[in-house]
Amino acid sequence: MSNNSLRTVYVNGDYLPENEAHVSVFDRGFLFADGVYEVTTVLDGRLVDFGNHMARLHRSLGELDMTLATDDNELLAIHRELVQRNGVDQGLVYLQVTRGAADRDFVYPATGTPATLVLFTQHKPLLDAPAARDGLRVVSLPDLRWNRRDIKTVQLLYPSMAKMEAKRRGADDAWLIEGGQVTEGSSSNAWLLDHEDTLVTRALSHSILPGITRSAVMAFAEEQGMRVEERGFTIDEAKAARAAFVTSATSFVTPVVEIDGQPIGDGRPLPAITRLRERFIEESRRRAI
Ligand code: PDD
Repeated sequence: MSNNSLRTVYVNGDYLPENEAHVSVFDRGFLFADGVYEVTTVLDGRLVDFGNHMARLHRSLGELDMTLATDDNELLAIHRELVQRNGVDQGLVYLQVTRGAADRDFVYPATGTPATLVLFTQHKPLLDAPAARDGLRVVSLPDLRWNRRDIKTVQLLYPSMAKMEAKRRGADDAWLIEGGQVTEGSSSNAWLLDHEDTLVTRALSHSILPGITRSAVMAFAEEQGMRVEERGFTIDEAKAARAAFVTSATSFVTPVVEIDGQPIGDGRPLPAITRLRERFIEESRRRAI
């Protein structure tokens, strides 16, 4: 937290120094991981794809019968206020909504229990990330998460375990496998470029998160005249592809140069993927609000 020391954070209507911000020990986010979140990228002090992040937030809330009294205009104002107060030029705004504080019970608390709303910022050098230049090394691991990965919940223990296992094996991250196919990365969507120059990524379902970056990259690539196919692929297909990469709000498009110790292509980021990243970032900066 070194260069984020004493940020101003937002908790349930108040802007507070981070060391004075509190959430109840009875909060269902803490006790049951009963909460959802969004991570919105900040570039040049502006928010990337804000509307789509809020649309996904409402979808996640709806799938869990959770309600939030704060509307999108207020949420936008809070995001902007935090970015401004914390002087964030490059980084992210994290937003979490939980079902609120109630006596510990598996049954949801009575309607009317106020949701907990927390937002904070993180400074992060997103544009000059070393992984963009060097590429990521990933290992494949079984996908042992629950079966509603389309809801962006805060139950992130397995992704965290998978990332730790990847690090133990000397890699940077994990690609998760289910039924013989890649679902996604531990915190990103997984892609390959096949030998016919088609970009391939798994179709949306309950098995993966509908990444905001995934959908923006898909639209952008098509605008640029690239072919995109939404279908599942095996880890062996990824290993034999021309290129592999991940997408997420904070990594944009980041090349994967090695899977399970096997180099992809010549083991260096493919220039076509680096170009896609650069043009995508340009476009994101232009459209940020
Ligand atoms: N993670 N898949 C998973 C499992 C993710 O956790 C994420 C994002 C994505 C990419 O989604 P988006 O393009 O909307 O960021 C896909 C965020 C960044 C995180 O947890 O920090």
